[in-house]
Amino acid sequence: MLIKNILVIENAFSQPKKADILIENGIIKKVGNIEGVGIDLSGKVAFPAFYNTHTHAAMSLMRGVSDDDPLDVWLFEKVLPLEDSLNEEMVYYGTMVSMMEMARNGIAGFIDMYFFLDSVAEAVKDFGMRALITRGLVDENGEDNGRLKENLEFIERWHDFDGRISGGLGPHSPYLCSKGYLQKISAAAKEYNVPVHMHLYESAWERDKYDAKEILEFFKDVKLIIAHAVQFKENELEALSRENFFVSHNPSSNLKLGNGIAPVAEMLKKGVKVTVGTDGAASNNTLDILHEMRLAALIQKAKNPTNMKVEEVLNMTTKVAAEAFGLNAGEIKDGMLADIVIFDTSDISCLPVENIKSHIVHSRCKVFATMVAGRWIYYNGMFPTINESEILYKFKKLSQKLLKKEISEIHRSSI
Ligand code: NI
Repeated sequence: MLIKNILVIENAFSQPKKADILIENGIIKKVGNIEGVGIDLSGKVAFPAFYNTHTHAAMSLMRGVSDDDPLDVWLFEKVLPLEDSLNEEMVYYGTMVSMMEMARNGIAGFIDMYFFLDSVAEAVKDFGMRALITRGLVDENGEDNGRLKENLEFIERWHDFDGRISGGLGPHSPYLCSKGYLQKISAAAKEYNVPVHMHLYESAWERDKYDAKEILEFFKDVKLIIAHAVQFKENELEALSRENFFVSHNPSSNLKLGNGIAPVAEMLKKGVKVTVGTDGAASNNTLDILHEMRLAALIQKAKNPTNMKVEEVLNMTTKVAAEAFGLNAGEIKDGMLADIVIFDTSDISCLPVENIKSHIVHSRCKVFATMVAGRWIYYNGMFPTINESEILYKFKKLSQKLLKKEISEIHRSSI
């Protein structure tokens, strides 16, 4: 594929320049003046696509179920009872609809934590996105009903599928995993050489009961993606600033569930690798990384307007997020994965185009298209890889069934 006459922003720190982009086998082959006939995207801007580093994609089925509750009520009283009734088909369509929303917002890949992992992976395979898929792992006194085994078997089945799908391990949190279980998961991650994805210090009550430093120590030799990290004090941030640790900052979810504001500006000063996640649609309630970037910037600017510069925020969602994911991506240059978002500079939110990077973070610039591995997964309002109306029809039927609790079959052991 050859894209002609587009304004290319190579990475978060560079300025737009007019160029053509040649893509071969999912890789950016060349950026510059290229002879040949291609698709003319003059008047548009190409930027490295975004990665959402924490979500539970299938939760789009539960969007809006609990908008005014604290985390414990949200989780234990509203979400878990519904999750008991989920089945494979629901997880497939829930994941699919979330990917449509993510693609529409310039996201090329996501790090997921859920269950019925084969359904998640099948949806990702069919839609054409990237995903690092982890199973939510919980135990009671060391007994996990085979969840870790299931997670490892999934990794064996799907690891590096089509270069787009990979697996990791997803211990839910210190409050749903015993210490012994966390150590076992860490050992398995080392053996399989896969990342670990875990919620940590999301809420104040979690902080009162668990020592994050001790838990982080369990994972010192593996790649760890830490969702939330809201409750860290400034003098504890050193523990997060390891080469192999990544924080996934989820500002909407943290504010909405009353968990607070993660000390992101302080983390960045300490060299912590911070990325951005949306969390699931049951807590956010959108999967809009552009909105998330703006919010992430604004809540730190409330303390000091020089915090969270545009370039810094864009780097978090592209280059740093790609590193968390383990992808050679996050820049539009030769040899990188062809994951690209195209912005529509004819839209008023993207004007004046001279300040386009500012608009991406602060003005909700309009996404025209999203490309993953050289293939359009979203293009000018359409989703070329799927049958949109059929998917939405199925999603509506299944979510209605779920929310009315018409499911007779109970899947508690799967959760
Ligand atoms: Ni989460």
